[in-house]
Amino acid sequence: MAEIDLGAVQRNLVRFRQVVGPAVGIFGVVKADAYGHGAVPVARALEPLCNALAVSLVEEGFELRAAGIRSPILVLGAYYNRHQDDVLAERLTPVVYDRGDIDRFAAAAARRGRRADVHVKIDTGMSRLGIPVSDLEATLARFGDLPSLRLAGLCTHFASADMPDPGTSHQALGRFESCLTRAGQAGFRDLVNHAANSAASVRFPHARLDAVRPGLALYGAMPSETVPLPGLEGALSLRTRVMAVHEIAAGTGVSYGEIWRAPRPSRVATLPVGYADGYPRHVRDATVLLGGRRVPIVGAVCMDMLMIDVTDLPEAALAGPVTLIGRDGSEAITIDDVARWAGTVSYEILCGISKRVPRVLRDAAITPPRPMPNPTAAP
Ligand SMILES: Cc1ncc(COP(=O)(O)O)c(C=O)c1O
Repeated sequence: MAEIDLGAVQRNLVRFRQVVGPAVGIFGVVKADAYGHGAVPVARALEPLCNALAVSLVEEGFELRAAGIRSPILVLGAYYNRHQDDVLAERLTPVVYDRGDIDRFAAAAARRGRRADVHVKIDTGMSRLGIPVSDLEATLARFGDLPSLRLAGLCTHFASADMPDPGTSHQALGRFESCLTRAGQAGFRDLVNHAANSAASVRFPHARLDAVRPGLALYGAMPSETVPLPGLEGALSLRTRVMAVHEIAAGTGVSYGEIWRAPRPSRVATLPVGYADGYPRHVRDATVLLGGRRVPIVGAVCMDMLMIDVTDLPEAALAGPVTLIGRDGSEAITIDDVARWAGTVSYEILCGISKRVPRVLRDAAITPPRPMPNPTAAP
């Protein structure tokens, strides 16, 4: 079971707003099912606190609209294929990254008989998505020929905002700022420009521009130790129960490949969580919490189960909840701990918690929603 503390998501947003200040718009990133927390409930919790929400795929935007979310929704990274009409019909704001899509959205807007807003993404060094910096003028000129389309904003994304060396981020920001100047010279003055993810928002005040796009920070983590943000709360706890207990002799192997053998007569408990639930197979020196104590995972993580060494625990403790991520008494396992044990990033752990893990929502609106002061920063 994954417990989702929507109040923590809201408090993290409020904490983030303290950092970026009231004049900067916040586009709350709820792509990838809100990093595994559940896009619809998280969007509902964030909607009153954000200027807009941001997803990656058109389908993610459609899901939010079908659930009644009314905020502006920016589509950050979709392959639009033939979805232009549906995107506009659902009032999603597309980020476009090539001239073909600009033409297709202009045609779709003309068919609807309503002017549509798009944001243009610029590749400032990540080589992932966006028009080249050198194509800016030609792209802007295209808008002059397409009255059904309005350029509402320019955006980019940083490749290394959380890396110790800030140099490449400074360069990327410099390229982006020069694009903003050139867009101004070409007559595009009322744009809502945005570049910063969680790390860049905290670390580079100049990168905050008109709006920021935090994702991970809203869920209570930061991408690396280079960019700490004290005061965030982990919003997801992963808990389960002991399903079986085995007394085994010294030397007995546990799990596939018997990569762990009991060094002494041991008691091993089996948990109904495995890599099919998103708990990573390749953790090293990982622990869970049981009865407020750290208990080691032993042997390979299986698809549906994993084993822990409970030899030193009193029998009665085995009836209690087991925490794989979250707090138990004075001990806590963070998402960063699990990512470190697995040799990956916290994003991958959060997004990997699979749909067969039931999400249980803890109450939202612990923080009273407050109206956002900067409607001009909506996309
Ligand atoms: C374009 C874009 N903007 C913003 C974000 C949010 O990043 P973070 O979760 O690091 O805040 C992402 C996430 O990968 C992204 O792809």
